Formats: sequence, C-alpha cells, structure tokens
Amino acid sequence: MQGIEGKVALVTGAAQGIGKKICELLLNEGAIVYGGDIKEDSLLKTQKEFEEKNLKFNPIVLNVSDSKSCESCINTIVEKEGRIDFLVNNAGITRDSLLIRMKEEDWDLVLDVNLKGAFLLTKFAAKEMMGKRSGKIINISSVVGLMGNPGQVNYSSSKAGIIGFTKSVARELASRGITCNAIAPGYIETPMTESLNEKQKESLKSLIPLNRLGTPEDIAGAVLFLLSDFASYITGQVISINGGMYM
Ligand SMILES: NC(=O)c1ccc[n+]([C@@H]2O[C@H](COP(=O)([O-])OP(=O)(O)OC[C@H]3O[C@@H](n4cnc5c(N)ncnc54)[C@H](O)[C@@H]3O)[C@@H](O)[C@H]2O)c1
Repeated sequence: MQGIEGKVALVTGAAQGIGKKICELLLNEGAIVYGGDIKEDSLLKTQKEFEEKNLKFNPIVLNVSDSKSCESCINTIVEKEGRIDFLVNNAGITRDSLLIRMKEEDWDLVLDVNLKGAFLLTKFAAKEMMGKRSGKIINISSVVGLMGNPGQVNYSSSKAGIIGFTKSVARELASRGITCNAIAPGYIETPMTESLNEKQKESLKSLIPLNRLGTPEDIAGAVLFLLSDFASYITGQVISINGGMYM
C-alpha cells in the first residue's frame, strides 16, 4: 500500500492478538517494524514465527506505563533508524469487575496501561516526528469507550479517554504534518477475549448485525489504510470496526 514501504513503525502490544497482526501486515508492505511488549517470551516467539515467514521483526521489551521504558524505546529506534514515522498505541489490558467491587489498584492499572501509556509514547515519538514535520499516530480505543459496558468502568473510561486524547493530539500536531486517529474495535477474537464461552459468544453475535466476532485482520487492515498515503487527509477521527454492533 502506498506510503508504507521503508517507513519506521512502533507497534505496542505486538506479541499477540491485534498488535501482532498489525506488525505482520506492515512487514508484508515493507515497513521497518519495531514491536514493543511487556512479555519478552511471547515477543521472541512472535519474532521466530515472523522469521519463518522471512519477515524481519525487531522486538523491544517495553512497559508502556513506565515513562523511562517509553523514552528509552523511542530513543533506541531513533538511534538505529534516524526517525520514527508511525506509532500504533495498541497495548491494552482489562481488569473487570462491577463498580462497587472494583479495587482502586485495578482502576489505576488499567488507566496507566491503556491511557497513560498512549500519552507517554506519543509525547516522546511526537518530538521526533515534529522535527521531520511528518508522522502518523493510531490509538486503539474500543466500542465500549463509546457505549459503556457493565463490569468495565475502568476499561471503558480508559478507552473513552483515548478518544479525547486522539482528537486533542490531532488538533495540536496537525500544523506539524502529523495525523492522529483512533480505531474503536468491537469484539475481536484474540487472547483478550478467549475467556468468553460459546454461550457468551452466541449472545454477543445476536447484537452484531454482521453476525460474527471480528478478527485481528479486520482491525489491522484499517490500521494499514490509516498509515498509508491514502489517509493523509484523515485526522482526529474514530473509526468503528464492530460489525455494526454500535452505529
Ligand atoms: N480483543 C478485543 O475484543 C478488543 C476490542 C476492543 C479493543 N481492543 C483493544 O485492542 C488492543 C489489543 O487487544 P488484543 O485483543 O490484541 O489484546 P491481547 O491481550 O491479545 O494483547 C495485548 C498485548 O498488550 C501487551 N501489554 C499489556 N500490558 C502491557 C504494557 N504495560 N506494556 C507493553 N505491552 C503490554 C500484552 O502483553 C499483549 O501482548 C487493546 O488496546 C485492546 O484494549 C480489543
């Protein structure tokens, strides 16, 4: 796809699920891809899988909620490549429970990883992108950031926060040639949702006009488009990819 080949990308949460598929599509299009994740073992397993497909993937151990880890990740990439063109803030976690039972530490952890993580990496990457007067940032939100969900006040708040963050970054950095957009996936089949049993999946499907859960490819394809030259006039948008579950 036009505008991807040779570009330097950092994708967080790259060891599995949606992040891994985003890396694969970018690698197939000739991008130089750094995949950051807190799980070193899974990252190395992913690197091996990519190697078997002749794809050169650069793993970086990264904790997105830690400022020093984020700064050193961006510095490592810029020292090696001289630039960073794309940032995909995809790492995310859930710690579900009903509001009145939710522990403060589970609120803090989810907000730290899902929202502060995007802030920290965007801040360090934006400094580099501003110098080159170009860059594209994609933040992964969620359908529950738009519609809410019982049992997920922490997660849905973090994902709603990502939307406000995306729009503010888009406004702040547009004059520097940088775009920033969010994707709000519906229910996607990844390790994050594998705890759903068949009955839960069937009842979810009844809420989805396209009558299936999504795949990592459904999300990764849209990320690729938003990073390509075809999307250069798109900024500050939230693209819903949810099979029509929420319109
Ligand atoms: N799967 C879904 O249904 C769904 C729906 C809407 C939004 N999302 C969002 O999409 C993104 C990817 O989800 P997924 O389903 O692939 O999840 P996943 O759990 O399969 O993968 C998430 C990855 O993030 C990594 N990670 C967790 N904490 C981290 C940290 N502190 N620093 C660095 N890496 C960390 C994990 O190790 C893991 O590899 C998340 O932001 C998630 O909230 C997922």
